[in-house]
Amino acid sequence: MPPDALLADHEVTARAQLDRLWARGREFLGTEFAILGGAMSWVSERHLVSAISNAGGFGVIACGSMGPDLLAREIEATKALTGKPFGVNLITMHPQLDDLIRVCIEARVGHVVLAGGIPSGAAVRAVKDGGAKLIAFAPALVLAKRLARTGADALVIEGSEAGGHIGPVSLTVLAQEILPQIRDIPVFVAGGLGRGDAILGMLEMGAAGAQLGTRFAASSESIAHDRYKAAFVRASARDALPSVQLDDRFPVIPVRGLVNEGTKRFLVHQAETLRRFQSGELTKEAAQLEIEHFWAGALRRAVIDGDIEGGSVMAGQSVGMVTQIQPTAVIIAELVDQAVQALLRRAA
Ligand SMILES: Cc1cc2nc3c(=O)[nH]c(=O)nc-3n(C[C@H](O)[C@H](O)[C@H](O)COP(=O)(O)O)c2cc1C
Repeated sequence: MPPDALLADHEVTARAQLDRLWARGREFLGTEFAILGGAMSWVSERHLVSAISNAGGFGVIACGSMGPDLLAREIEATKALTGKPFGVNLITMHPQLDDLIRVCIEARVGHVVLAGGIPSGAAVRAVKDGGAKLIAFAPALVLAKRLARTGADALVIEGSEAGGHIGPVSLTVLAQEILPQIRDIPVFVAGGLGRGDAILGMLEMGAAGAQLGTRFAASSESIAHDRYKAAFVRASARDALPSVQLDDRFPVIPVRGLVNEGTKRFLVHQAETLRRFQSGELTKEAAQLEIEHFWAGALRRAVIDGDIEGGSVMAGQSVGMVTQIQPTAVIIAELVDQAVQALLRRAA
């Protein structure tokens, strides 16, 4: 066989091997590749979600703070742009969670992701009785086991490398703790993934597929402001840091994003609020609220208005692997190719 034909033959074999490695994830999602576009508030709307699904991945709408009517419209608009499967991500503490689940069920959304906390039994039942598959986030092994027992159809384990709200443990450790133990349902990995060979490593450890956010936020189809995307291209991994908490008495939810004027002002704001609390000017509750309100609307300001100095530029450490703005289909093809090349190198 001529060398080119031999190479093509090896590549077909490597692609088939990759297909087998993430077969469970592909089957669960109904997609060509087991790559989810992690929901990102303000970013994961009809255009990005449909682009990811049309490229063979699995787009997920971020419901964020949308109400039921807005969500229903977003689902319909997404369906108009893709005939491929996509999901909806709902935040468990949303005051209208029940109505949002109903909207998903009525629109026949196939997969509902419940994020931001452990879902209640009632929410799990509502999703499953409605005929949708339920994906939940498992921040630790005990919770992963409990979620698998109580009806989650799949899990996402998201390491602290990720952009947005994060837990304390890296994907490297979560994967070792959880992947060998949870075999009954597919487990998708997230956080810090920017290359296909890294995804391959996770599949070989037992992951069903991977979820990426940061790389897709910087895609051509992402509606994020050009300044937001340009900041991603400029940044390296070390620029994406978790928010800092000044005092144990006033907890700050850890959010990973690019360091900017806003993150510096947040420290000053915490120090000033502490001083006002200590002087008796503010009660503890009022001081906590002052701290929590600092970031209200800040992600929207950064993503939509392009205020990358004052807003919250949520980004994962994988931002260092964003070197240009690329179409979603190219990002996905690149990830798949990197996994295939890694398999080919090994075979050689
Ligand atoms: C700008 C931004 C906003 C995000 N918003 C949400 C969200 O609303 N809900 C959610 O479950 N995850 C959210 N995430 C997390 C992503 O869905 C995904 O799990 C994460 O980005 C994966 O890590 P990576 O950024 O290293 O790829 C967000 C991430 C980013 C970067």
